Amino acid sequence: MGNVIFGMMVSLDGFVADRTGSVRRLYPEGSLGANTELEESIATTGAVVMGRRTYQMGEPDSYAQSYEFQVPIFVLTHTVPKPQPKQNARLRFTFVTDGVESAIAQAKKAAGEKNVTIVGGPTIARHCLSLRLIDELQLGIVPVLLGPDCACSISSIGRSSWSASG
Ligand SMILES: NC(=O)c1ccc[n+]([C@@H]2O[C@H](COP(=O)([O-])OP(=O)(O)OC[C@H]3O[C@@H](n4cnc5c(N)ncnc54)[C@H](OP(=O)(O)O)[C@@H]3O)[C@@H](O)[C@H]2O)c1
Repeated sequence: MGNVIFGMMVSLDGFVADRTGSVRRLYPEGSLGANTELEESIATTGAVVMGRRTYQMGEPDSYAQSYEFQVPIFVLTHTVPKPQPKQNARLRFTFVTDGVESAIAQAKKAAGEKNVTIVGGPTIARHCLSLRLIDELQLGIVPVLLGPDCACSISSIGRSSWSASG
């Protein structure tokens, strides 16, 4: 069985989105091109978990064609969207309404021997950390400054959870 990995991009001053909530400056155009870490992550990921707001950062119908992780995707939400977004033979969406533990359990089953990668956002990260569902954190530090008025810092996601996990 693989690991449950939480991955996020973080600015030099510790923020995971700018003051408008955008991650555009953390993922500059072309940054998802040739990139050894991303290639390894894609090769070892068997399922992805994300929160509904992170899911909606992308155009839902575009995932099947252009998302880098062509694997089953589990989206946490309280309301299943209708109609369902486009899918393909490898990338299937499951909208999970009964909590993060259920989402991770379903994703582990779908991933088999591979890893489950949680791609955000902060809300899901907090839930997973507090429930100790994460085996490994992967933080990409991007050389930009987003502060000082951004709502969400990496330390606000993890402070209590980091210390609780020892
Ligand atoms: N820096 C990075 O690498 C990175 C990565 C991803 C996202 N982000 C940023 O993070 C922000 C989005 O993150 P976020 O924390 O606002 O939202 P999020 O974690 O992506 O999604 C939160 C949503 O998940 C659903 N949810 C949460 N807990 C649930 C539960 N127990 N059961 C069922 N559904 C549950 C709810 O959806 P419903 O409202 O539909 O019920 C909730 O509104 C954006 O600003 C984005 O740009 C940054």
